Amino acid sequence: MASVTLSLRHALSVLTLSLFAWFVYLRISEHTATLSKRTVPESEMKFGGNQNPKNLRGRQHVLSRSAFASPTTDPETCVTLECQMPPENRFDCARDRTLSRAECEARGCCYVPLSDGVSGGPPWCFYPPSYPGYKMGPLSPTPRGQTATLTRSTPSYLPRDISTLRLEVMAETEGRLHVTLKDPASPRYEVPLSVAQSNKNTATQDTLYSTEFLPDPFGFIVRRKSNGRVLVNTTVAPLLFADQYLQLSTSLPSALVSGLGEHYTPLTLDINWTRISLWNRDMAPHSDANLYGSHPFYLVQEGDGLAHGVFLLNSNAMEVALQPTPALTWVAIGGVLDLYVFLGPDPQSVVQQYHQVIGYPMMPPYWSLGFHLCRWGYPTTNATRAVVQRMHAANFPLDVQWNDLDYADKRRVFTFDPQRFGDLPAMVKEFHQEGLKYILILDPGISSASPPGSYRPFDEGLQRGVFIKNATGQPLIGKVWPGPTAFPDFTNPETRSWWEDNIRDFHSKVPFDGLWIDMNEPASFVQGSVDGCPDSDLESPPFVPGVIGGSLSSGTLCMSGQQNLSSHYNLHNLYGLMEASATHSALVKVRGSRPFVLSRSSFPGLGRFSGHWTGDVRSDWEQLRYSIPGILLFGLYGVPLVGADVCGFGGDTTEELCVRWTQLGAFYPFMRNHNDKPNMPQEPYVFGQQAQAAMRSAVTLRYSLLPLLYTLFHHAHTSASTVARPLFLEFPSDPNCQTIDRQFLWGSSLLVSPVLEQGAVELAAYFPPGIWYSLHDGQPFYSRGQYLLLPAPLDTINVHVREGHVIPQQEPAPTTSASRSKPFLLTVALSEGGWARGELFWDDGDSLDTFEKGDYSYVIFIVGQAELVSQPIKINGALDGLLLGGVRVFGVPTPPRDVRANGEKVKDFSYRSDTKVLTVSGLTLPMAEAFTVQWTL
Ligand SMILES: *[C@@H]1O[C@H](CO)[C@@H](O)[C@H](O)[C@H]1NC(C)=O
Ligand SMILES: *[C@@H]1O[C@H](CO)[C@@H](O)[C@H](O)[C@H]1NC(C)=O
Ligand SMILES: *[C@@H]1O[C@H](CO)[C@@H](O)[C@H](O)[C@H]1NC(C)=O
Ligand SMILES: *[C@@H]1O[C@H](CO)[C@@H](O)[C@H](O)[C@H]1NC(C)=O
Ligand SMILES: *[C@@H]1O[C@H](CO)[C@@H](O)[C@H](O)[C@H]1NC(C)=O
Repeated sequence: MASVTLSLRHALSVLTLSLFAWFVYLRISEHTATLSKRTVPESEMKFGGNQNPKNLRGRQHVLSRSAFASPTTDPETCVTLECQMPPENRFDCARDRTLSRAECEARGCCYVPLSDGVSGGPPWCFYPPSYPGYKMGPLSPTPRGQTATLTRSTPSYLPRDISTLRLEVMAETEGRLHVTLKDPASPRYEVPLSVAQSNKNTATQDTLYSTEFLPDPFGFIVRRKSNGRVLVNTTVAPLLFADQYLQLSTSLPSALVSGLGEHYTPLTLDINWTRISLWNRDMAPHSDANLYGSHPFYLVQEGDGLAHGVFLLNSNAMEVALQPTPALTWVAIGGVLDLYVFLGPDPQSVVQQYHQVIGYPMMPPYWSLGFHLCRWGYPTTNATRAVVQRMHAANFPLDVQWNDLDYADKRRVFTFDPQRFGDLPAMVKEFHQEGLKYILILDPGISSASPPGSYRPFDEGLQRGVFIKNATGQPLIGKVWPGPTAFPDFTNPETRSWWEDNIRDFHSKVPFDGLWIDMNEPASFVQGSVDGCPDSDLESPPFVPGVIGGSLSSGTLCMSGQQNLSSHYNLHNLYGLMEASATHSALVKVRGSRPFVLSRSSFPGLGRFSGHWTGDVRSDWEQLRYSIPGILLFGLYGVPLVGADVCGFGGDTTEELCVRWTQLGAFYPFMRNHNDKPNMPQEPYVFGQQAQAAMRSAVTLRYSLLPLLYTLFHHAHTSASTVARPLFLEFPSDPNCQTIDRQFLWGSSLLVSPVLEQGAVELAAYFPPGIWYSLHDGQPFYSRGQYLLLPAPLDTINVHVREGHVIPQQEPAPTTSASRSKPFLLTVALSEGGWARGELFWDDGDSLDTFEKGDYSYVIFIVGQAELVSQPIKINGALDGLLLGGVRVFGVPTPPRDVRANGEKVKDFSYRSDTKVLTVSGLTLPMAEAFTVQWTL
């Protein structure tokens, strides 16, 4: 369940507000445009500074001023020479509020209005090159790297400026540089993320980067050693470091920037004066809005196949500004500057280096890769049972049935409705007997309004002190689905143990298999708390990034909320991550098998504990299309188990949209059909026979590919490779791939090209150079790196296998518990020279830490010279009894004379000379043993 209607209404009121501000601005700028630049009275210029309507917030704070006269002016233009620079090179000196000319110049900045004052374009008030900043003292060695002291003699224009900083530079690995800027005098809040990997500080001289420091004003430059390219240059604009305003700018070597989620964007961002706010928020995906998660990480494709990444480890509200220089400015409103630079040199290595810092993703249980079905509005257990029965009757694969908050008694978590869901425990046991799993929603808000003694989670929570406290030290009360609620503080160790106790207790009644943690930004239907929020610098900081609602506490808790580790102001963006971590560890202890957690809110590191879905997507074609960059970006963020709600959540779907969405969804790493309460049903069985057949074949195709998908998750878990992968990650040197986000890959081997437009029955798909075979029938296509028009009638999703790969498949079945014992099938896509390679990771699919404990099997398949050889690298018993039933070989040039398996002639094979596909069936080769399949040409 999600508060989509509420969110939308909210969004509308925000829109109305900003439209009003925009109107005010237009009126004023029209007026000022006719006046001479030198004679405008200050009062008239009130709104003339930064013309971004988002900035017209009427801040009352008076900032300390520092005046720097700039005497040299060009008599022609009356603009000081220093201020003459191309508009795209200007760095905004008035991000915090709108400034008049006098106010701007009092900051020592240049004020040069632009005649074409386009909204959100170049700033009018900007830093001159000589703008004073911090001065760096000598660098001295430390055990971890180098350090220096930075001081500024003149305070900046910000309140509570910090005039002395400590710089630390650590060459941590060959490809990873770590730079921190902190206040040496008093410790400030820092994100409690322990860098997981042990290979810290082992860098030799052989780093991929070199660094240079400019002492006055301080700045640093990071270069790629191999080609001298400047990747980071912070001297483009001044460093600012005040209590609630930290700003660092850098040039970018290219305009191809990806990341900085969670937003509704393409894979590569528009850098044309784009402002991006990072602040976790319950907000249905739409453009220009801060959504559920914050990922202060970007990856830049440098244009020649090389790439680097930058991660600012900071959990405060943030605004990131992109400009066509190209350049980027980070503004965080608290914490410290803790910056990582990843040198790649290729995009996939950047992702790996990033995940080494934030942690590799967890290994999901095998069953969680099956089909999930959910909606808000299954009112009873019997209605839920009926859904499962109709799925079986219609012959659709289904692994996991879900319930939204319908199950809960008075919408309170850890309870179930005694009438409508009275036999929930029995229902879950029935599902288990049918080989299904069961998941229910778990919101963090704990109802605080039940009579004392009637709702243990609250009573005990109160007693154990687990809730976030308000400014007067009592539980902060917000409002969510059950009405007034308190919010667990997951940074408190006591809360984690209370949470685990509740999960254990509830699980002893309802043996659920996983937990869906929704509303965990955390969302609240009142701003701040039912008692409002006290007036303070935390509630109204000198600068508020452009967040939906205009205030940090909009749709969530008061910033002054007290948590064990710090204030909610600092910890807000970590709420979902901390809840996911507590939930994951509770499930490990309570169930003793591999946990499944699905979280809406996210922050770097979430993938260690949880998957993610992209929230309250609307049932329309545009949202279908943008779900692809949505899931690809979460792969870069280290959350590979991700999907959008298939057929859309908000609004009625249509049959055609739902078919196309099911086809695409069959290739989301996480596949769940989920629907909002007021909408027409969208379970696959409600549609016409033709649509059902198309959906069934897409879901069945997914089930046949689960051995590949599971193996890809194993690689993500052990080596931080991506599962659903953007083309540019796999083909970094192909310029055509740089921005493709209507197609994607599974690992390195499958290219998925879905239909994303209403009525379309064909699509233009890009094929990187090489041979690509239709997964469906093996038809080859020899690409020179070109677009091809593919037929795509309603029953078809185009999937192509890349030459040189072996795809492990398995006969599909209605559940993964059944499909896991079916015969395997290998699809071999031969390269030009007749080679291919693939692998299979296999374990029991459900035990904890199988890889870490060595309790798994791993088989490599190598094909060359008309022979397929399996090499069991490691065998543990998981493959016992499992057989290879068949092989398809794509690209066999001539009809084979005979086929042999382990040297014995095979009768059951066929060859098609039109597609050049050899099909071998009826095999019974044990998967746990080495085998060969040869064909004689
Ligand atoms: C860094 O940026 C400054 C300001 O734009 C520029 O003058 C300087 O040349 C740049 N340094 C390098 C190494 O590119
Ligand atoms: C940037 O935006 C402005 C105003 O919308 C437009 O005139 C300009 O062409 C855009 N530039 C690019 C590179 O998109
Ligand atoms: C569910 O259906 C069964 C069998 O028809 C019936 O006995 C039971 O009362 C129903 N339960 C609910 C909660 O409606
Ligand atoms: C804190 O919450 C309590 C209720 O838990 C309320 O009575 C009190 O007024 C709140 N204090 C503030 C400052 O909002
Ligand atoms: C944080 O939690 C621990 C354990 O529950 C407790 O001992 C400590 O007092 C708490 N600190 C704060 C600041 O709440």
